[in-house]
This record gives sequence, structure tokens and C-alpha cells, in this order.
Amino acid sequence: PAVGSSRPHESARAQVAGLATYIDDLPELKGTLHAAPILSPVAHGRLRSVDARAALQLPGVRGVVLAADIPGDPVLATFVHDEPIFARDTVQHAGQVIGLVVAESVMEARRAARQVRLDIEALPAVLDVRQAHAARSYVLPPVTVRRGEPEAALARSPHRLSGRLEVGGQEHFYLEGQVAYAIPLEQDQWHIHSSTQHPGEVQHWVAHALGLENNAVTVECRRMGGGFGGKETQAGHMAVWAALAARKLRRPVKLRLDRDDDFMVTGKRHPFAYDWEVGFDGGGRITGLKLAMLANCGFSADLSGPVADRAIFHTDNAYFLSDVEIASYRCRTNVQSHTAFRGFGGPQGVILIEAILGDIARHLALDPLDVRMRNLYGAGDGRDVTHYRMKVEDNILQPLLSRLEQSSQYRRRRQAIAAWNAGSSVIKRGIAITPVKFGISFTATFFNQAGALVHVFTDGSVQLNHGGTEMGQGLHTKIMQLVADELGVPFERVRVTATETGKVPNASATAASSGTDLNGRAAQFAARNIKGNLAAFVAGLDGCGAGAVSFQAGQVVSPKQTRSFDQVVKLAYANRIQLWSDGFYRTPKIHYDKVTLTGRPFYYFSYGAACSEVAIDALTGESRVLAVDILHDVGHSINPALDIGQIEGGFIQGMGWLTTEQLVWNARGELATHAPSTYKIPATGDLPARWQVELWPEPNPEDNVGRSKAVGEPPFMLAISVWEAIRDAVAAGGGEPRALAAPATAEQVLRALGDGPASG
Ligand code: MTE
Ligand code: MOS
Repeated sequence: PAVGSSRPHESARAQVAGLATYIDDLPELKGTLHAAPILSPVAHGRLRSVDARAALQLPGVRGVVLAADIPGDPVLATFVHDEPIFARDTVQHAGQVIGLVVAESVMEARRAARQVRLDIEALPAVLDVRQAHAARSYVLPPVTVRRGEPEAALARSPHRLSGRLEVGGQEHFYLEGQVAYAIPLEQDQWHIHSSTQHPGEVQHWVAHALGLENNAVTVECRRMGGGFGGKETQAGHMAVWAALAARKLRRPVKLRLDRDDDFMVTGKRHPFAYDWEVGFDGGGRITGLKLAMLANCGFSADLSGPVADRAIFHTDNAYFLSDVEIASYRCRTNVQSHTAFRGFGGPQGVILIEAILGDIARHLALDPLDVRMRNLYGAGDGRDVTHYRMKVEDNILQPLLSRLEQSSQYRRRRQAIAAWNAGSSVIKRGIAITPVKFGISFTATFFNQAGALVHVFTDGSVQLNHGGTEMGQGLHTKIMQLVADELGVPFERVRVTATETGKVPNASATAASSGTDLNGRAAQFAARNIKGNLAAFVAGLDGCGAGAVSFQAGQVVSPKQTRSFDQVVKLAYANRIQLWSDGFYRTPKIHYDKVTLTGRPFYYFSYGAACSEVAIDALTGESRVLAVDILHDVGHSINPALDIGQIEGGFIQGMGWLTTEQLVWNARGELATHAPSTYKIPATGDLPARWQVELWPEPNPEDNVGRSKAVGEPPFMLAISVWEAIRDAVAAGGGEPRALAAPATAEQVLRALGDGPASG
């Protein structure tokens, strides 16, 4: 069977050979024009006028597109409906798009866009999240989740700690930047190529902006060169802008942001700030927690509501919190509108509780792993219900952590590290194990549905289409494996086609790691329908029951006869049997109350843990990850190679978030780090020298497709072990780990070390 085998990614060869097409590689239609955005240089201000005369005189320039050119609603069709398509009257962040210049070539458009004169009267800007909170500047109302009596519990606790933490955002840095290509067809119909995780939403936004119904717009995406959440909503902006330009100029228009503009225009992972107070007993077990979480949402809501909700849902990470209050503030600031990013708020919840547990352990001089183990969810002992009232039924963290403790030789290495640190004044080492428990399903229950369309052609070849999008994660490959096995044909007989709103309508975003869970099942059901038709047909021929007909290795076997799949398909076609089908799936068991944030928002949890060892240089503050051991749960893996790739990629991306990827907005609210020259993602040289990834062997106890588990986001949070290990090393260096913010850049590490080791 195909499922369970490490098939290469369906596009791997083409991608390596440069033969896989991204939108900018598509052959351009005759008359295609190129658009470039006109950006606000001011973080907050009154937009008095836009003077494009000089720009329009430049060679190749064909027009300028502004808010007045929008035939439909000038506000984007987002859920909260709070974001103008082009800034009008006011500008709300440096880099906000005011309009477009359209020209014969990309470079002509970009050059001319800089010649557009803007008259903006600057207004005071809110740039700091704590300042926004103090001024009650929110994009959405605050949400509080509470259980038990946290104040009384804190008052009774034998030990108490309180603190603050600042955690930075993150640029998606997809290799293929944001891009869309809008093609007007006859009679006000549109074909849009969009590098998007959510073609259905792009379709809706474009139609809404053009003043058309959704049925006039088709959106297509063959693949993205990375999305990471950054193309969940914000790809829609490019598509809407390109379509508006195409409508005004009556030509196909392509819009591809250059890297600097992509940084300036699009939102990032939400930076968070926290104020917390925790009570605990002498063994380090948490007895009460009060927490305020401030999410820096930027100038509009975008996905901030569900992102901040997921942060609340993951503040427990793996641990039982008996008496707890979490207040979540969705702060409005004059920066880019922050958005989905791998983990979707989960990492911002998990890092806080891991930081608190690390602090508790150091306060009590206990081993942090012992403290973490003592706080884990239990089974049937009253310690198995989350703060949002979901019972944790599938917890495997106790055995998983024990196994990782053994396989990583954590205890022995801790001793060795202590010995090293005693003899080394400049290079200090640290180690940490942190677990992850990540809830799988969209928290908005209605998104947990999917469709697929499978065709068997008369030659027996199979064409597969589903509502999910490919961004490098291997979704198409996994679903091809599932369909091949369902029909009992070799993997090579199945091809997948571009995701298209005209084939599977109303599809959810490919997000929340649920791409395979949802679309894989829908495709499996579609294939099962076809198989059912063929089985009934063969049963009729051979005079047996349909249940007695089986499909395997390209053969159709009945008690009477074995025929090739191709032969059966030809016969079936000649007998007018339907050879194609749709499939539909919705996740069972989930429900929750949006107001109180209680219920069962998740179908199941994905688990994992990592042990990371780091070294820091007390003179320069530099850090290096020396060794990483990961044990991660993907249930029955559909494709171990792809799953391990996701674990490795997620971990390194998380490591970048917590070490080198620092976003700096200057005092004027301009993003100063807007290119790889100043914004540092991990490079190959940053990979740990020793790196072990192992998969947990058990299947998903829930009836998820192939008994697998989602893998896209959970491993991202394994990298919190790196940050905790750096804090461990800072403590060993005589510094104050509680002073370390994230990312732990060299400057941050030096600051946390104070002048302890260097002068001593
Ligand atoms: N892997 C690659 N190579 N590129 C990506 O853009 N996005 C991540 C993850 N892994 C991403 C990736 C994010 S944010 C999500 S939600 C999931 O993939 C989405 O795909 P899935 O649901 O099929 O796992
Ligand atoms: Mo992923 S952040 O859910 O696109």
C-alpha cells in the first residue's frame, strides 16, 4: 500500500529541476500589465491628497488605482469588516497600501509608485502594546476564561511568583512572496491565480470588491512557495488589488510584491506581552494562576480573534490548572495587521506556561523536568479537564516524556553540563525538555468540513481534486496515497490538479494543520463511492455480493474472476456506470460555546517533546543549539518522510522565532527590519550538529483518516525547549533568566547575564 510509505513529495523532482510553476512563472497573457503598491510612509495620519501626476508621466505607466476606483464595497470582506481595501481619509500604519501604479513592466510600476506624492498630516500613533492596553485601544473586545477561585488559591499558596514577559512577532518569510494574477474573462467573469491558503475566501473578497456575486469569480492555486499562515487571509489583498487594477485598465494584471514591500505591507505573528502571577507548592505543582495576555494585533482585526482564542486554549500546554484566570486583550496598534502564523497563537500560550514552570523550578532549586512532570494532566483523578472544560482523554505525555528522558540521556547530560559550567567561565551550557500538546481542529467549528472530487477516466487513470492547498507540506502527496489505496491502484496512476473554487466550492482555508484530516477523508470518501459503483457492477457480472469484490495492486478480485482495474473501468464505462464522484467530510464530536470559550473545540490532541542543549558565549551573548532530541506523535504516519520533514521544518522555524528573528519598529512606527540583511531566519549553519527525530509508535485513538495525526504546526512549539535551555544557560552564567525576552538575541542574552560572568 501507498499509505505508510515515505513517498517523495509529488512535486519534489519538478521543484528541484525548476520545472514546477509558481504564479510568476506562468506564461503571461498578451497585454498583461504589472501593478506596484503606493505605501504610506506614516504610521498614523490624515490622508489629505494623492498626487499621481508625476508618476503618470513616467515611461510605461498606464494608470493609477485608488479607493475611488472600487466598484463594490471599499472595505474588504473580512469577518470583522474593519479594513479598507485602499486607505482613504486616514492611514493606519507605515506601509499601508493607498493605491497602485500599473505599468507595462514590474520595474516601471515600482519606480513610478515611489513618485506618487502623498499629503499626510501626521497624528499620534500607538506603537506599544502596553500603551494600547492602557488606552483601551482594542480591535475586538477582551475575553476572560476563568475556573475555580484563583485569587483565593493564590492567597493560600505556600509559594508565589509574579512577572512580565515580552515575546516578539515573526515574519513568515515564505520563499515565494505574495502574488496574484487577475484575468478578466468575458461578461464580467474572472479567473484569479492566487498564491493563497484559502482560494474560497479570495474568491469572495474579489467578488465583493468588484460588486459581483461569487459565481463570477474562479480562484486557482497549484502550489505556494510557502504560506506558514501568511497566506491564509493576506493573500486576498493581492488578489483584490490586482483585480481592481485589471478592471480599471481592462487588461490582465499581475501583482507581485518585492521582499521589502512584502515585509512593510503584510502582517506577522502577533507579538505578545504578559503579566502573570502564579502560586505553587513545595514540589513545584501549580495551585493558582492569574494571567493577562496582551496580543499586539496591529491596525485591524484580521484573524486576531481566533489567534488570541487559541493562545487562551494553549496556556495550559500539557498541564492541569485548577484555579485559573486568563484575560486576553486584543490590542490595536498602528502597525501591520498581524495574522495567522504556524501555531496560530498556540505558541504564544505555550511559551508563557513553560517560562513559568522554568521559573518555579529555579526558585525551588528543583529539576525543571521533574516540575513539568508533576504538573502534567492526569487520568481519571480530577486532573484531566482543561480550563475550557474539555476532557483530555488521549494523554500520552507521561510515557512519552519518560521515554525521551531516557533516549536523550537527559539526567546524565545535566550532570555533565553542570560539570562543564563549573570549569568554563565564558561558554555556558544549558539543557531543557519541554512537551507540547496541541489541539487539532479549527476552533470555529463550521470550518471543519471539506470536499473532494475524484475522476476515473476510461483508461483507468485517476485525477484527484480537493479543497486543500499545497504549500510545501506534502498535502497533495498524502491525499494521492490515500486515494491510490482506496481504489487499490498504484500511486503512479493518481494525479492531483490545482486547487480551484470551481471544482470544490466553499472550501475552508488549509490551516490549523487539518489539511489531511479534512480533505484526505473527503477524497477517501469520493474514491470509496467510485469503488462502490465498480464493486456493484462486478458483482452483477459475476453473480456475487458487492462486499466480496476487492481492489488491490491494480486488480479487481471477485470470487469468480480477477480483472485488471483498467479492464473493469472500460467495461463499467461501456455499461454507463458513473466513474467519478464527490466526497464530503465533517469532523465529528466537536462543539463549543464562542462566548464562554468552553466545550470540546478539538477532535484530538497531537503530542510531542524535545530535549535541546545549547551553549551561550557570555562575552558576546551569541548562542548555538548543540543537540536536539525529538519524540513526536503523528499517530499512524501516512508518510513518515513528509512527517519528519514537517517536524524538522517546524522546529527550526520555531527556533528562529525564539533566537534570531527580531522585528524592530522604530520610533516612527516604520519596520526597520524589512529584508534578509537585517531580519535573520535560521540558515543551514544553525542546524544542531546532533539532531534525532523519532516518531511515537501508537495510532490516533480517534477515527481520524488512516489513524494519523496532524503534524503541520505542533512541532513548531518544540523549539520552546531551545529558549528554555538558553535561560538555563543564563542561570548557569549567574544571570537572571527572568529578564530574558524572546527572541533571545545576543543583545537579550547579554542583558540577562548582566555583568555577572564577564566581570567575575
Ligand atoms: N510546511 C511547509 N513546507 N510550508 C508551509 O507553508 N505551513 C504550516 C504547516 N507546514 C507550511 C508547512 C502551517 S501554518 C499549517 S497550518 C500547515 O502546514 C497547513 O497544512 P496541513 O494542514 O496540510 O498540515
Ligand atoms: Mo497555519 S498558521 O493554521 O496557516
